[in-house]
This record gives sequence, C-alpha cells and structure tokens, in this order.
Amino acid sequence: MRVAMIGTGYVGLTTGVCLAELGHDVVCADIDGNRIAQLRRGILPFAESGVAEMASRHMTRGRLHFTCDLANAVAERDIVMIAVGTPKGAEGEADLSFVRNAARQIAPAIAPKTVVTLKSTVVVGTAREVREIIASERGALDFWVTSNPEFLREGSAVADFLRPDRIVIGADDHDAAQRLIQLYQPLLREGIPLVETGTTNAELIKYAANAFLALKIGFINDVADLCEQIEGDISAVAQGIGLDRRIGSSFLAPGPGYGGSCFPKDTEAFAATGRRHKAPQPLVETLIVRNEKRKRGIAERVLRELSDIGNPTVGILGVAFKANTDDVRESAALAIVPILQQAGVSVRAFDPWAQTKAAALLPSVAWHDDPYAALENVDLGLILTEWEAFRSLDLARLALSMRNRILFDCRNLLEPQEMPRHGFRYLSLGRGGVPRAIKQVSAGAARSQGPHRSLRLPS
Ligand SMILES: NC(=O)c1ccc[n+]([C@@H]2O[C@H](COP(=O)([O-])OP(=O)(O)OC[C@H]3O[C@@H](n4cnc5c(N)ncnc54)[C@H](O)[C@@H]3O)[C@@H](O)[C@H]2O)c1
Repeated sequence: MRVAMIGTGYVGLTTGVCLAELGHDVVCADIDGNRIAQLRRGILPFAESGVAEMASRHMTRGRLHFTCDLANAVAERDIVMIAVGTPKGAEGEADLSFVRNAARQIAPAIAPKTVVTLKSTVVVGTAREVREIIASERGALDFWVTSNPEFLREGSAVADFLRPDRIVIGADDHDAAQRLIQLYQPLLREGIPLVETGTTNAELIKYAANAFLALKIGFINDVADLCEQIEGDISAVAQGIGLDRRIGSSFLAPGPGYGGSCFPKDTEAFAATGRRHKAPQPLVETLIVRNEKRKRGIAERVLRELSDIGNPTVGILGVAFKANTDDVRESAALAIVPILQQAGVSVRAFDPWAQTKAAALLPSVAWHDDPYAALENVDLGLILTEWEAFRSLDLARLALSMRNRILFDCRNLLEPQEMPRHGFRYLSLGRGGVPRAIKQVSAGAARSQGPHRSLRLPS
C-alpha cells in the first residue's frame, strides 16, 4: 500500500520505517526541514536500536522517502497517518494544535477515498474533529478519519511495532477499517490480536492503557516505601505479585517516579478528559500528584545525606527517562538536578546516550564520558536510569575515587550485600530487609575541605 506519515518523531519515523519493512511504500513528511535533510543523509534525530539500519535498507530499495512537501506527500496515498506531537497543554488537557495544523495542511491535497488515521495519542473526539477540519476545506470529498493508537516503547520500538501485543483499529466505517486491516495484514497473519472498534473507543484505549501502566508504577513505588519501613524486600514482593497472571510482572520495579514523553502527559490528559466529561478519575489524579512528589522526595533524601558535608558534589548516573533511549523528556534527572543545584550542590553526570539532549536542559552540569569520571571526587553517586552497564560498576574503583562513599541506587541495580565490603553507605528503594551498609565511611579530610557551605533544603 501507499502510505504517507506526517511527523518523523519517535513514533512517526519508527512506524514509517517498520511499514516499509512490511512491504509498503512509505513517504515520511515533516515540517522540520533540517530533520528531513538529515534523514535523507541517513542521520536519525534520536537513538533507537534498529531504526537506522532498516531506514537505510528501505531508502536504498526505494520504498522509503523523506520530504518537507506535505501536499505532495499525501496526494495519491491509500493511508495518511498523522504522528505529530500532542504535548501537555493548559490544565493538563492534551495540546492538539499540531494535530489540527497537520489536518489543515493535508486537507487541500488528499485524494478521494483516502483513509486518514491518527497515530498520535489524542483525546476522545479528535478523529471526529479532524474529520470536520478536513471536510470544512474539502466539502463533498469522500474520505475517512480513523484512529490507530501506537503502543511502542522507546528503547524497544522496532520489536514492539513488529510484534505488538495487539493492534487497535478505530474506525466508524467498515471500508476504512478494512483498509487498515489490509495495512497490518503481515502482522495479523502472524496471529497478532486485532481490536477493531470505533474511533472513540480506540482513542480511550490508548489513554486508559497508559494510565493503568502508570498506576502500576505508582503502586509499586508506594509498596517499596512500605517495604523500607517494615524490613521488607520489594523485589520478592513484586515477584510474588507479578507471577499472578491477572497482574503480570511488568512495570513492577520501583524507581524515582515515571517520566518520558508519554506517561506524564497522558495521565494528565486522561484525568482532564474525566473532569471534562464529569467522570472524574481520582486514582489517576492522585497518582499524578504522588509521582511529582516522588521525584522531589528523592532529591530531599539526597540532600539529607549531604547535610553535614561542605561544598557537596553529586554524580548522577543516567539522565534518560529510561534505559536504551536518548529521550530525556520529563526524566527524573530533569526534576531532581535543579532541586540539588538550588540547594547548593554541584552536579556532575554521565549517560551513555542522552547527554547531548540533557545538556541543553541542564546547563550547569559537568558532563563526563564515563561513569567513573562522573563519580570522581563526588560525595554521593545517584543512579537514576536503569542502564545495564551500571549493574557491573567496578565498586573497588569507585570506592577509591569518590570523596564520600554514598551510593543512592534509585533502580536497585546493585547488590546491597556487596556494598559494605567496599565501605559504601548504600541506599536503594524498598529493600528494608536486606543488610544495610555500614554507616557512611568518609574519606576523612575530604569532609572538611574548604569553607562549609550549608545546603538550602527545599521547604
Ligand atoms: N514517543 C513514544 O514512545 C510514543 C509512544 C506511543 C505514542 N506516542 C504518541 O505519538 C505522538 C508522537 O510522539 P513522538 O514522541 O513521536 O513525537 P516527537 O515530538 O518526537 O515528533 C513529532 C514530529 O512531528 C513533527 N511535526 C509537527 N507538526 C507537524 C506537521 N504539521 N506536519 C509534519 N510534521 C509535523 C515534528 O517536527 C516532529 O518531528 C504523540 O501523540 C505521542 O503521545 C509516543
């Protein structure tokens, strides 16, 4: 089939490339000329395993094209997918301005019988609104607007797209639904479940799914807090919960609060939708508040650890919102670092992929090329992202180079039993029952280096 993809972000580009992999002819369009120029040269705007190789293969085969000319891109296409951003707007509502603009831009050029489909995460009613926008431009033109929400995760986007748990097709017209079913035929043939429904349900499925996953994270974070008070171990508790098939084991790892480009804005949009339609969502409303509080709480724990150290320095390991991505949108680091800096803490940091993007948002951080350099002479090491490489840090090497041996592992990557051997005071999440490290071992003289600058604890 002939497909146009509007927007070449994480979702648009990955989806476009994967649709080419399924055998379709795909043109990807973006209003960002620089991005399109780079893509034509094979340079991706983000790091995502497998996308660059597949893109290059399909460009060579002539199945994948990039353009800034939206009108040209959508003319004579069977399906036009809109995958532009839907960021957080006022009062938590989704900002649909990019979707509306895209609809206005493609309206004059789409051919009769085109199926326009919304890949972007959009609130209930958006497919109908986009239909009205295009109809107001094109009058009697015969076309359809459908919903096909995307569930891929950054870091495993290609695998998620090609082997999804389900494909959701929301269409209020049988023929339009059939067109999308045909698009996904190579996956449906493999037995991937299909949910075929109306646009309203499809739109709600996406928000409800993200809200539910975020609730799982919020729940396990609260249980981890409880474990710390009762000498429980969250990994045992999570395993015991997760093996129940009604619950499932994913999203049951405690952390510094969820972030990323989806959960924070989608939970807010879901709650706002509930308020707008007089069906409040108090579980999600509470979750949103608690998740922000959790990030602040981590920063406050760090400051308490540093309270009697002069001119403290913290080394952050991981600024991406999760591992295997360079995306820092709403990451824990973006919330925690400014709180530390405002309190007078110097911050050094390392992330394998996300440093360039984070540096633009965290200007006063000293960036380093490896974890050991980032933790050199620091008073406290703070692990915020679950990069696999951090599991095998050389603790003996760190113990020699850190000024004070305090490690706060917000992803439970390290073995608590190992820590006392290297003289670390080790903090992690929800591991109240495992042996605690000996009380902090200080490098002595370092504690009294320079005039003591007291920390400003947030109120
Ligand atoms: N990132 C994820 O993991 C993920 C997963 C599932 C769903 N989603 C949803 O998919 C949508 C896109 O997310 P993303 O992370 O890919 O966004 P993104 O910000 O990475 O990319 C959006 C792209 O759209 C382009 N764009 C904006 N207006 C345009 C227009 N009028 N015409 C052409 N291009 C235009 C931008 O230049 C940008 O390149 C959002 O609604 C998001 O919630 C994201």
